[in-house]
Amino acid sequence: MAARHHASDAAHDIALKQDYAFIETYMLNILESTTDAILTVDENQRIVLFNTAAETLLACSRQEALGCSLSIFIPPQAQTAHEAHIQHFTQEEVQCRRMSPERVVRAKRYTGEEFPVEVSISRIQQNGQSFYTAILRDITEQINAEEALRQSQKEIQELALAAHCAREQEKARIAREMHDELGQLLTALKMDISWLNGKLPEMEHSIEKKLSSMQNMLDRTVAVTRRISSDLRPLILDDLGLVAALEWITQSFTEHSGVRCKLCIPKPDALILNDLYATVIFRIVQESLTNISKHAKASQVEVTIEQKEGYIILKIHDDGIGFSPNTARKPNSYGLLGLKERTNLLGGTIIIHSLPGQGTAIQVHIPLSHEQF
Ligand SMILES: Nc1ncnc2c1ncn2[C@@H]1O[C@H](COP(=O)(O)OP(=O)(O)O)[C@@H](O)[C@H]1O
Ligand SMILES: [Mg+2]
Repeated sequence: MAARHHASDAAHDIALKQDYAFIETYMLNILESTTDAILTVDENQRIVLFNTAAETLLACSRQEALGCSLSIFIPPQAQTAHEAHIQHFTQEEVQCRRMSPERVVRAKRYTGEEFPVEVSISRIQQNGQSFYTAILRDITEQINAEEALRQSQKEIQELALAAHCAREQEKARIAREMHDELGQLLTALKMDISWLNGKLPEMEHSIEKKLSSMQNMLDRTVAVTRRISSDLRPLILDDLGLVAALEWITQSFTEHSGVRCKLCIPKPDALILNDLYATVIFRIVQESLTNISKHAKASQVEVTIEQKEGYIILKIHDDGIGFSPNTARKPNSYGLLGLKERTNLLGGTIIIHSLPGQGTAIQVHIPLSHEQF
């Protein structure tokens, strides 16, 4: 019985040894086939393990790296920070953790070239000695792509801002010409017709009728011209400013839709905004009110605007049917997209709270740039 035990223990031993051999080959295989650079240092920061990917990444052969100090791969300006990090790491109980996941750490190739890496470090203890393993991943391409994305977003924003300004200037010019030039001509025509009417002898009844119908058409033309002009750009915005323009648009919203609209401006005198900011805010309110009259079936609307701690805060709230803002945009629906684009122009944020049956609240925060103060 004892002999059998002995024999089976020996077999188990061999199996275990074979397993160890297998595990070792397996681990070495992973170590050598990974594209991440892996290196291990001892307590004195001497390199004791250096995989093939590390050779490629750090442009240094294993023979050259083994036994060297890790500092040859750390840029001089990062040495102090690295030492502090290691110090902190050795004091912690944590066995394995990622170092500075949110920070870009810089590494240095053997050839001297510096580049950004993402590092994770783990510690292992063997016979009272600590070993630190670092896994390095080159993130140069990621950083470059992020920078290119940032740059192109900045350019798109600049382009959108330029397009917005050009559009508004053009609208203002047409609106002004329609109002001033066309408006004056039409008024002159009306006066001429009245004059003619007064000069007509009693019997010219048919001409009098014709003139009266022309008067009528002219009155409608004047009204249409005014409407087109103020839809393009309300002159009140340029002539009397944002507060007057908001009073005008909320009143005319109520007149046309029959929906009550309360405008709250706690400190109207403090609301002195340049043309760009005033136009963006006016257009956001205009589009929101258009949406309310088109879709909301509301009975009450509240528009609040105030300037607080370097921000303009605009809220438009209706008690209508609401909708699901997260559902996919309908084709040819650009209103809500326009609100976001306009807010983005000035680096602001927009939140649309809405639920079917529970009304809609739009909140816009726009930071005021320095020239606004
Ligand atoms: N205040 C609101 N109340 C209810 N539904 C709204 C409101 N604002 C927007 N919506 C919904 O969101 C959709 C998208 O709006 P928008 O982008 O302005 O496009 P459009 O007004 O041309 O349909 C609308 O079709 C409507 O269903
Ligand atoms: Mg719309």
